[in-house]
Amino acid sequence: MRISRALLALLAAARGCDSFTAVLTRPSSSSSSREGRSRGATTTTTTALSSTSREGRIRRATTTTTTTTTTALSSTAEEVGSGGTAVVGTPGTADLPWSELGFEYRDTKSHLRMVYRDGRWEEPTLVESPYMQVHIGATALHYGQACFEGLKAFSHADGDVYLFRPDENGMRINRSANRVMMPEIPVDMFVRACNDVVRDNIAYVPPYGSGGALYLRPLLFGSGPRIGLQPSEEYTFLIMVIPVGDYYKGGLAKPVNGLIIDEYDRAAPRGVGSAKVAGNYAADLIPNVQAKKMGYPICLYLDAATHTKVEEFSTSNFIGIDNTNKRYVTPSSPSVLPSVTNKSLQTIARDRGMTVEARDILVEELDTFDEVIACGTAVVVTPIGSLTRLNDPAKGVGGDSSTMYRFTEDVGVTTRALYDQVRSIQNGEIEDVHNWNFKVQ
Ligand SMILES: *Cc1c(COP(=O)(O)O)cnc(C)c1O
Ligand SMILES: *[C@@H]1O[C@H](CO)[C@@H](O)[C@H](O)[C@H]1NC(C)=O
Ligand SMILES: *[C@@H]1O[C@H](CO)[C@@H](O)[C@H](O)[C@H]1NC(C)=O
Repeated sequence: MRISRALLALLAAARGCDSFTAVLTRPSSSSSSREGRSRGATTTTTTALSSTSREGRIRRATTTTTTTTTTALSSTAEEVGSGGTAVVGTPGTADLPWSELGFEYRDTKSHLRMVYRDGRWEEPTLVESPYMQVHIGATALHYGQACFEGLKAFSHADGDVYLFRPDENGMRINRSANRVMMPEIPVDMFVRACNDVVRDNIAYVPPYGSGGALYLRPLLFGSGPRIGLQPSEEYTFLIMVIPVGDYYKGGLAKPVNGLIIDEYDRAAPRGVGSAKVAGNYAADLIPNVQAKKMGYPICLYLDAATHTKVEEFSTSNFIGIDNTNKRYVTPSSPSVLPSVTNKSLQTIARDRGMTVEARDILVEELDTFDEVIACGTAVVVTPIGSLTRLNDPAKGVGGDSSTMYRFTEDVGVTTRALYDQVRSIQNGEIEDVHNWNFKVQ
């Protein structure tokens, strides 16, 4: 181990190649030593340990430009607890500042990778390097044949770790894949892949009480070359994981001011807005950066055809709350992305006796809401204090033609109640009546 590491370091220094550093500097977690991992090799080797795992084998690969080590992992006796169940390991043992994680890329132990070739999915591997080789003609790079997902795993008080509704993300990635002619991933295979990558990175799951979570970012893309516009023949699926902090550190932040975007559109009515495809997001960069410069941290898009109806925020769904009539209103449009958070909050709202309406919402109707929420996996809910429309067509051009719709100045009662309830389920603090939590094992 020492020798191969030194050799790798030498090679890295000689080639000035960054991809070695991640492998070399990664802190080794307690679970990795227990599993007796072999890593690091300077020639292409494949080490297969006898596999007795009840979950089947996961090959392990440490890939750099010159070295490939693939190790078939197996459950050793040490991994199997007295109850006969596999010991997953302890979350939160990596050396990280759990209370100040934020939401940004960080290296972890591994990511999961799986390739689709000759019409079928090959076995998944766990890869330690965060780099990969991609063909220069890959359809994802040229034509945006790619889609992604986002979901979280949470530690509970008893040390078990749970994924939140991974089957929903599995079904959604299929819909996205179909829209851009990529192969489906069977939902059970998707959920197992999520399970396996969390399990391998258990040390990086923020501990219970920190408020953080392990964010999973599944990505599926055309990795084979095509120059004429056609679907690829090869696809790569990967799941990277990133420990993220509690966005609100114990309490919802004050509502933010949003800007209604008139100069740009996010998605066309018969376009790809309802699929989580990579191409949707680059279009949102300019309006986002411009709005932030003007003091609006969040952008609200309208329907592209008429600019009269509310669609969604850049990367989160719109929810309007009318407390007088106990209504939860969310736009129904073919070009918004069906959010799992929105779906969950709707269920909770119904449980609380609210009426859920999924329908068109005219811009003028914003006046009727007491609270407005932007919802998505990353922050769960963002309370919106106001929405401003500059150059409001209703007011004509010139003079002060802007309109500001104001909602609650502090976090609204319903926003808080919905947030608390979904977070309590995710943290295992109240009964999971809808069976949303999936135990990592
Ligand atoms: C991912 C995403 C959301 C949020 O969906 P969740 O499943 O709640 O995370 C909302 N809108 C867009 C455009 C998105 O890409
Ligand atoms: C893919 O997801 C859809 C729902 O989006 C589901 O109906 C279908 O069975 C899934 N396909 C596979 C192969 O699991
Ligand atoms: C909220 O989610 C539900 C279910 O996924 C969907 O029917 C509704 O249209 C969504 N609203 C938006 C703005 O996507």
